[in-house]
Amino acid sequence: MLIDPEIGFTADVIRDPSRFVGRTDLIRDCISALNAATGLISVFGKRGVGKSSLLRQIQQMALGEYALAKKAGLTHLIPARPRTYLTVYYSCDSLIKDGKDLLSRLCNDQGAEDSLLRLVPNDGKEIIEFTRSKEVSAGADLKVVSWGAKGIESSKYAKVVPNDIVQTFRNFVDAIVVHQVQKRMNRDGLLIILDEFDVIDNKEGLGSLIKSLTTPQVKFAVCGVGRDLSDLIHDHASVERLIEQGVLPVKPMPLPESEAIIFRAAELFGGTVKFEPGIATRIAELGQGYPYFVQLIGKQCVNEANSKSTTTIDSDILDKVLEDLRSGKAFPTLESAYQRAIGESEGRQMLLHLLAEQPTEQSLFTDEIGRVILKQSRQVAEELDIQFIDQLIPRLVEKKYGPILERVPERQGTYEFVNPVLRQYIKLRRIE
Ligand SMILES: Nc1ncnc2c1ncn2[C@@H]1O[C@H](COP(=O)(O)OP(=O)(O)O)[C@@H](O)[C@H]1O
Ligand SMILES: [Mg+2]
Repeated sequence: MLIDPEIGFTADVIRDPSRFVGRTDLIRDCISALNAATGLISVFGKRGVGKSSLLRQIQQMALGEYALAKKAGLTHLIPARPRTYLTVYYSCDSLIKDGKDLLSRLCNDQGAEDSLLRLVPNDGKEIIEFTRSKEVSAGADLKVVSWGAKGIESSKYAKVVPNDIVQTFRNFVDAIVVHQVQKRMNRDGLLIILDEFDVIDNKEGLGSLIKSLTTPQVKFAVCGVGRDLSDLIHDHASVERLIEQGVLPVKPMPLPESEAIIFRAAELFGGTVKFEPGIATRIAELGQGYPYFVQLIGKQCVNEANSKSTTTIDSDILDKVLEDLRSGKAFPTLESAYQRAIGESEGRQMLLHLLAEQPTEQSLFTDEIGRVILKQSRQVAEELDIQFIDQLIPRLVEKKYGPILERVPERQGTYEFVNPVLRQYIKLRRIE
């Protein structure tokens, strides 16, 4: 019998609280941020570190579903009557130019479970309660089962103001708060969660826009790649008073939490897959704090076990997965990003490996983490007879080939790996 690796592992954002591991400090901060009457929640960190998964857990808690917090031993911090919300979840993309563009997207997105529009009261539209988690007791949200024949313009509850998207948005939000949040569901507020906020091209004024829209009934949560809040919101001074709670930096996972992903997977497999002692530690070490890589390796181990008709993951299985990784066979997505970057240049391949292997400071609290300095690899590169180093770099920073590296503007000759998981992959990949 083949075992489905997805039962225990996933490369997707974690929505189901029973799959979410660790992050106890962040969950504690989420509880207080959600239970503050006003305030902005901001989540930031590197790619693949677990931001979106944390956001989905914030969404669960906003609905009043605190099973995760209880399991994490935080029951004493949950208020007797926690503030509850209806929720909107929107992932931004780089075609969103600015704040008005964002509001216009929010007012037009027709997602059945996460959109703002689904909550705008309307005669024709049919909305039902549903729960986002497997637990039956979990907090309910609303979803649309039929948008109705008349279309959204016919709404008599919320007025669309032509050419004024800010006012239209306000009208939508007001109607939602009165009719859905308060009357229908008896909640405290509306939580608008905006993921991938960093990709919005022109961030000017977004802070003051959010501030002007935030009330005790309307709270925003923004999330994206960055080192701190100012990477997400440039005019962050305007939201200063809103951020006493709710600043949530997502750091690489400590080793025991990465190991816990394997232990949790074992539980999810319900005894059908066994991991020999020591395997979890080895996989966690390979993951370097990036849960995404831990999940990928775990999944591949199960695939390998399937092909060997065994249900025990031992060091032979893991060694085989590692060998396939080294030769580029195990992880097609990472492999193709790697190949695209090197573009059939041996020199560029060598240079990329030298940069990936540069020792960087291991402290979790400095900006330097993940940065590499060209000069430091130059000498080794020359000793290895790599020619024209300066001509090898441009492809690595060019968008259409990845990009693999990003220039750090304040420091000449300093680069950052855009995707830390890819960097780890390159470190493990063999040069052939
Ligand atoms: N707390 C967690 N427990 C288990 N796996 C996680 C956790 N957080 C993230 N992951 C895994 O890591 C991967 C990346 O997570 P994601 O939330 O998409 O990161 P980001 O949004 O920062 O890029 C996903 O495959 C997810 O399965
Ligand atoms: Mg994400």
